[in-house]
Amino acid sequence: MQHSFDVLILGSGAAGLTLALRLPANYSIAVICKDFIQENSTNYAQGGIAAVLESDDTFAAHIQDTLIAGAGLCDPEAVKFTVENAPESIKWLINLGINFTKSEDQQYHLTREGGHSHRRIIHSADSTGRDLEETLIKATKSRSNIKIFENHVAIDLFTRDNSCLGAYVYNEDEDRVDAFSARKTVIATGGASRVYLYSSNPSVTSGDGIAMGFRAGCKVENMEFNQFHPTCLYHPVAGSSLITEAMRGEGAYLKLLDGTRFMLEYDERAELAPRDIVARAIDHEIKRLGIRHVWLDISHRPADFIKGHFPTIYKKCLDLGLDITKEPIPVVPAAHYTCGGLKVDLASHTNIASLYAVGEASCTGLHGANRLASNSLLECLVFAASAAKHISASLGEQPECMVPPWDDSRVEKAREEVLLLHNWEEIRRTMWNYVGIVRSFERLRRAKSRIDMLKVEIQDYYSRHRVNRNFIELRHLIVVAELIVDAALKRNKSVGLHYNIDCPS
Ligand code: FAD
Ligand code: SIN
Repeated sequence: MQHSFDVLILGSGAAGLTLALRLPANYSIAVICKDFIQENSTNYAQGGIAAVLESDDTFAAHIQDTLIAGAGLCDPEAVKFTVENAPESIKWLINLGINFTKSEDQQYHLTREGGHSHRRIIHSADSTGRDLEETLIKATKSRSNIKIFENHVAIDLFTRDNSCLGAYVYNEDEDRVDAFSARKTVIATGGASRVYLYSSNPSVTSGDGIAMGFRAGCKVENMEFNQFHPTCLYHPVAGSSLITEAMRGEGAYLKLLDGTRFMLEYDERAELAPRDIVARAIDHEIKRLGIRHVWLDISHRPADFIKGHFPTIYKKCLDLGLDITKEPIPVVPAAHYTCGGLKVDLASHTNIASLYAVGEASCTGLHGANRLASNSLLECLVFAASAAKHISASLGEQPECMVPPWDDSRVEKAREEVLLLHNWEEIRRTMWNYVGIVRSFERLRRAKSRIDMLKVEIQDYYSRHRVNRNFIELRHLIVVAELIVDAALKRNKSVGLHYNIDCPS
């Protein structure tokens, strides 16, 4: 089936929906998402959104904190642009009806996270992402010019003469591939943290947009900088769900199994050191002592405070038999955020005409070698608004072209699903074992040889079989795995999130 829109947006998280809402209401807009609309990282965000909102905080301080976390690899212009546009984005959300938490004095409550020199994280208790996503969805659904396509999985972009004309998308409900033509196409498909075996992310984050953009000729940057969140729940059935950094911001301690604090031995900022330092410290203690997890303990704070600030985590842990007002939480690091992605300018435009990338799939230059906590939702909001402005100013110049129908004449042998599952498992385990928090050239070369072999297998399989969601994601995943390994092999110095024991300084 053929579809045609002014703007095609791949992704329904903070980046995709903000962009759809920021565009003029007379544009025809398609928002494609591969699951149901709110299944994305945005929906699971806990801590909040960083912005300078108090008179004793300054843009200069937020800029400085971001640059320090980014370890010298941020683009200062992108940092300044994001920080200075943050208050407007927050105001826009408040006007849309978002329910940020207020203190008793009716001022917005600002929490603190690692690497921030000031309290500047605006939040909705410990479920900011859910509130944000629900607010955006409600506004999107009230706009008749925006059409949502759920259970639609983008396979590839269609480009001609270095210009993007749309994309091929697998319609899972109908089991067929549709061609979407658009005058402007936007990749808002989120990050790639599911390339690792253990991740705080939902299953949608398989790096699809980064892989599609790369195949189409986009520049890709900083893929070696994958952020590992220090504190994800360690539990046999609950998966690696996140325990927000705001808990450390509100006084929680990291402890070894015997109850001793250890972070001060690693950094004078202790539990509030930037994430890479905290994650490496935990990883080191776990390996040194042969333990499975460390503790995160907030039980010294009043029970009402804990329940009031962290209601979602309190309830989730209680359902698992753990009362966090009385006992510590077992935590481990897990893959959390992709700092790199498709290289874009301040308008979120890629090097391919009519193709934009926003949110975690993009690399704006804001994060450099390490993202400062709660700067990513901010980046989604600011750059989506900027892309919308650029699209509105240039849409008229763009002729309408049709994407030709998908060629389904390839051999259609039945798939053996279990082989796909084996490939998935192999990629994710390889990345976890050899391209994780601590790396070495030996480990990276091992990863490279395994990824090369898997790539051949997957490409061969792809040439002979019909696609489904699992298969499309696998084909994207192997590309991002290769991009990460190649970037890590090329960097001959440890910096930010990339820590290689062969060149530690
Ligand atoms: P997402 O919200 O991940 O949305 C991606 C969208 O793309 C989804 O709709 C998905 O269906 C769609 N998609 C993907 N592939 C395809 C495809 N092939 N075809 C069609 N659609 C596709 N950041 C903060 O700033 N503050 C926080 O407090 C915070 N907490 C976090 C907590 C957790 C548990 C996690 C996982 C992340 C957190 N982050 C936080 C990071 C932040 O949430 C993400 O960086 C941000 O939400 C990314 O938004 P996005 O719109 O780029 O992508
Ligand atoms: C958290 O709440 O710890 C996550 C914040 C972030 O990823 O920015």
